[in-house]
Amino acid sequence: MNSRRYFLKKISAAALAATAAPKLLSWALPQPQAVDFPGEDGMILRSYRFVDLESPVEYFNTWLTPVPHFFVRNHMHEPSELDPADWRLSVGGEVEKPFTLTLAELSKLETHSVVNTLECAGNGRSLHRPQVPGIQWGKGAVGTAQFSGPRLRELLQRAGVKSTGKHVMFRGLDEVPSKVPPFIRSILIEKALDADTLIATHMNGSPLAKHHGFPARALVPGWIGAASCKWITEIKVLDQEFAGNFMSPAYRLPNEPVKPGDTVKPEETHPVTALSVKSVISGPSEAARLKPGKIAIHGVAWAGEAEIARVEISIDGGATWNPATLSHEQSRYAWRLWSYDWKSARSGDHTIMSRATDTQGRTQPLTPVWNPSGYLYDAVDQVNIHVA
Ligand code: MTE
Repeated sequence: MNSRRYFLKKISAAALAATAAPKLLSWALPQPQAVDFPGEDGMILRSYRFVDLESPVEYFNTWLTPVPHFFVRNHMHEPSELDPADWRLSVGGEVEKPFTLTLAELSKLETHSVVNTLECAGNGRSLHRPQVPGIQWGKGAVGTAQFSGPRLRELLQRAGVKSTGKHVMFRGLDEVPSKVPPFIRSILIEKALDADTLIATHMNGSPLAKHHGFPARALVPGWIGAASCKWITEIKVLDQEFAGNFMSPAYRLPNEPVKPGDTVKPEETHPVTALSVKSVISGPSEAARLKPGKIAIHGVAWAGEAEIARVEISIDGGATWNPATLSHEQSRYAWRLWSYDWKSARSGDHTIMSRATDTQGRTQPLTPVWNPSGYLYDAVDQVNIHVA
């Protein structure tokens, strides 16, 4: 039975009742639901039309996120039949020598590994005020994995990019429902030629799972997850940015901050590329009831193409900030685990806050920059606890 049908069979009555959700949230669920999805234990269901699964933040206590705990974001149906023997990857467009590869040929190329924190541009969307339409992600549309595969630039160099080649487009094998534009996007040629941009075939040392793009996906480190096309089958060099729904109007930000209700002209927007600096508290959990005394506070922090310089914790509502300890596991594009011991918590209600600063000098703001699509939510994280 294909996974989508299995999933629909398993979905709880409570989740199905949520089809009556307001129009704004169509296909998104108003409340988190734990989902019994094959191989994906304890994940939060955010959409069941296509598979969209969020990680509970409590899972963010390992440097590499195990694949069954790694968020899944699909704009359309995953390919239902995908025989690796039939899979082909074509490289064409503004190149001297277009060519096509089989999976066996791709697998013979030199492999490179990158530990990357992959985050959906819409992560944290549900926290924007006023709320905006789209999948109502909490804080867990993010995860870190080691991705391995040949460098994209090896394929591009073999094809010979013409001087007119300025952007690189990816197409996946998603099954596109009628009336929905296909998920096709492009990235800048400079990023495509970067030594860390991959055509990944493996994640955490195993072949990619189907949810994550088997047999191969683009991996564009430090950029929003949407740049990393899954089930990739076509690479095309273009002389300009790909013109299609998922490049415009989707995945764009206004050049200047706007207010809810303002009209934003397309020419006053730019594509979302690199991620912001951000931290998330993975413990204690929201609404935890704890005993007075020592409380271990921990979490993760990442900064896209930059690196984390420091994480600070406040236990007094942001009046004072104390440095957290960063763990030794470190790699460009990967999040850092951090921890802070609150030595003597007293009885009462408390708000714990975390704030990250990166090597580009960016610090998380107290309030995020609101935008109509709810991209790149980056405010200081907080959890409320009760000590008694
Ligand atoms: N690639 C294809 N072909 N189709 C998609 O819907 N979703 C993108 C990206 N690649 C998507 C895709 C988005 S929005 C994100 S955030 C990442 O995949 C999520 O990757 P993951 O599901 O492996 O976590």
